Amino acid sequence: MDVGEALSRRRSCRSFLSRPIPDPVLEEVLSAFLRAPSAGNTWGQELLVLTGADVERYWAVTLPEGDRRTAFPWPGLLCAPVLVIPLVDPSAYLRRYGATDKAHAGLGDSLDAWPVPYWWVDVGASIMAVLVAAAAAELGSLLFGMFTHTASVLAEFGVPEDYQAAGVIALGYPSSDGNRASLSLKVPRPNLEMVLHHGQW
Ligand SMILES: Cc1cc2nc3c(=O)[nH]c(=O)nc-3n(C[C@H](O)[C@H](O)[C@H](O)COP(=O)(O)O)c2cc1C
Repeated sequence: MDVGEALSRRRSCRSFLSRPIPDPVLEEVLSAFLRAPSAGNTWGQELLVLTGADVERYWAVTLPEGDRRTAFPWPGLLCAPVLVIPLVDPSAYLRRYGATDKAHAGLGDSLDAWPVPYWWVDVGASIMAVLVAAAAAELGSLLFGMFTHTASVLAEFGVPEDYQAAGVIALGYPSSDGNRASLSLKVPRPNLEMVLHHGQW
């Protein structure tokens, strides 16, 4: 499958088969995380990969058994065999931009000095690479937020305090059942003419 086809196939999937992803397929998809550009070649980002019982540990923290889980509108999301949590370490960007070859940028002393937080830019690009690689491997994927559960999830899995989570990527083979559309899909996707400004805003 070429990149254009993988890009156009990538749509958020909210219902998965519990069928496991073969290790070589998962490794290929996750390797895309390191195919994105990285500001200053900093690579202040890592992945927490949850499979098997660790997936249930994730849901036990964020959606404990009970009424909330029973009423959860996307039960097929809970079948995803893999959850991946992309994490950024902003202090890695301070260290990199404090190095001699980057000192001229004046970004090495304080995170507040950064007009654009490149750690979020970098991890967004890496996430997209993983989503496109998943589509190319005929997997479904969903990037979703942890919202108020972030601190408890990171504590559950022993993530060091310097790291911040960008969200969660669910991966797995898509199920044709229960892939209820998100209300967000009522918001129309813009067409290209609406977002391009040629030469002048
Ligand atoms: C940063 C980010 C956070 C998102 N969070 C959620 C989420 O919490 N739950 C969800 O169902 N979808 C979430 N989505 C998926 C979007 O709803 C989805 O990408 C959008 O509606 C466009 O649909 P598509 O991905 O199928 O093209 C998120 C997407 C992004 C980029």
